[in-house]
Amino acid sequence: MSTHTIREILQNEVAIDSTVAVNGWLRSVRHSKGGFSFLAIHDGSSFGHLQAVADGSLSNYADIQSLTTGAAVRIIGTLVESQGRGQDRELQATDVQIVGRVAEPDQYPIAKKRHTFEYLRTVAHLRPRTNTFGAIARLRHATSIAIHEYFHSREFVWISTPIITASDCEGAGDLFRVSTLETANRDQIDYTDDFFGQETFLTVSGQLNVESFCLALSRVYTFGPTFRAENSNTSRHLAEFWMVEPEIAFASLKENADLAEDFLKCVFTSIIKAVPEDIDFFQQRIDKQVGARIQQVIERPFVRIDYTDAIAELQKATKEFEFPVEWGLDLQSEHERYLTEIADAPVIVTNYPAGIKAFYMRLNDDEKTVAAMDVLVPGVGEIIGGSQREERLDVLDARMNDEMRDELWWYRELRKYGTVPHAGFGVGFERLVLYLSGMENIRDIAPFPRVPKNASF
Ligand code: 4AD
Ligand code: MG
Repeated sequence: MSTHTIREILQNEVAIDSTVAVNGWLRSVRHSKGGFSFLAIHDGSSFGHLQAVADGSLSNYADIQSLTTGAAVRIIGTLVESQGRGQDRELQATDVQIVGRVAEPDQYPIAKKRHTFEYLRTVAHLRPRTNTFGAIARLRHATSIAIHEYFHSREFVWISTPIITASDCEGAGDLFRVSTLETANRDQIDYTDDFFGQETFLTVSGQLNVESFCLALSRVYTFGPTFRAENSNTSRHLAEFWMVEPEIAFASLKENADLAEDFLKCVFTSIIKAVPEDIDFFQQRIDKQVGARIQQVIERPFVRIDYTDAIAELQKATKEFEFPVEWGLDLQSEHERYLTEIADAPVIVTNYPAGIKAFYMRLNDDEKTVAAMDVLVPGVGEIIGGSQREERLDVLDARMNDEMRDELWWYRELRKYGTVPHAGFGVGFERLVLYLSGMENIRDIAPFPRVPKNASF
């Protein structure tokens, strides 16, 4: 007799009439008057659960009858064709071992079938046991595997860039400090006394470091956690999120945009093959549009538009926007949403004003714009941000102040020794999974979301 996962059993990988053992938790329990108990077990291996039927002939049947939702069990039994509706096989239990009971069943925080996502955020340690959060966990996993496979098959090398850094890559100042000093007042701190002997932070992006590997290994990517202390309480922002950052040498903005489009199309295609049941669930129970939106990314050519033309398009719109539309201002999410709606496809906006973008983006010949790109998708907005990098040392120097030139001396040297045009982008991993699941809030995509005023669990 061997132990099987519920996925193996539901997908008919185990022969009917075999004696099997399964381990899991009870999603629901029904004790009938006629001396039968119906136990729905889940173990996270697949979306579905397995039904086990226990009857009064079992020696511990009185104990079984006291089982409630959430209890952990090991059940041994015979796999049989099911008589009931909705499942083709079930377990005729011969031994129900009670591994962990639920204390105070009427207090069990997720005993009821339906809870709001807001409520489930307050019990983040138990929400993985629900259908939705189990599906999100498997989708996150499938997405990260698909991403690694995509790059591996195209000969990209995965580089782990540091989590603790001295530089603010994006220059937005949204940094979490890393320090072992006790002084709270920043002005009084002498960082030469600190652990690293200088001021350090949690990274906002691995890009600057991965560029150094790009200019040696040609095709590289990072995939790791990044941190931003932006105080934006939106359904799209986390203080801690994972980012995927490919970087390619001997490449311009055009190749970068081509890579971004191909990446999203291929990764989405892999995911719908990898977790079809979970995607079905999202489609039926979370957002009826999700399947169509995934297909839209896979099938439609992305619309590419210059920032300047996008501004003209927005100014022509009959729709009233809350935020001003003016050349030189950043696009707000309402603008991004409008652009994806009229295109009815993902949109790549390119060549933004230099003034609103980071120092490392390559200055265009007009000297007003930089070779930046944002990939926008319906519903989520910006899912990718990237650019061609400034490879000319004198132009780069002109975009940095004294302090930056000092601190990033090593980054400048990459432009001194064998510099080449290169480009890359960053994909927000949780935003990607948000889009694939049709969930509304990114706090439900991170297993334990970090947002302003909340770091419990
Ligand atoms: O546009 P961003 O800031 O670009 C960079 O960090 C570049 N260094 C990337 C590169 O060129 N290598 O961030 C990239 C993506 C965004 O498009 C968004 O999807 C995601 O990261 N992102 C966030 N996701 C969740 N919460 C936040 N606070 C995010 N900020 C950015
Ligand atoms: Mg961005």
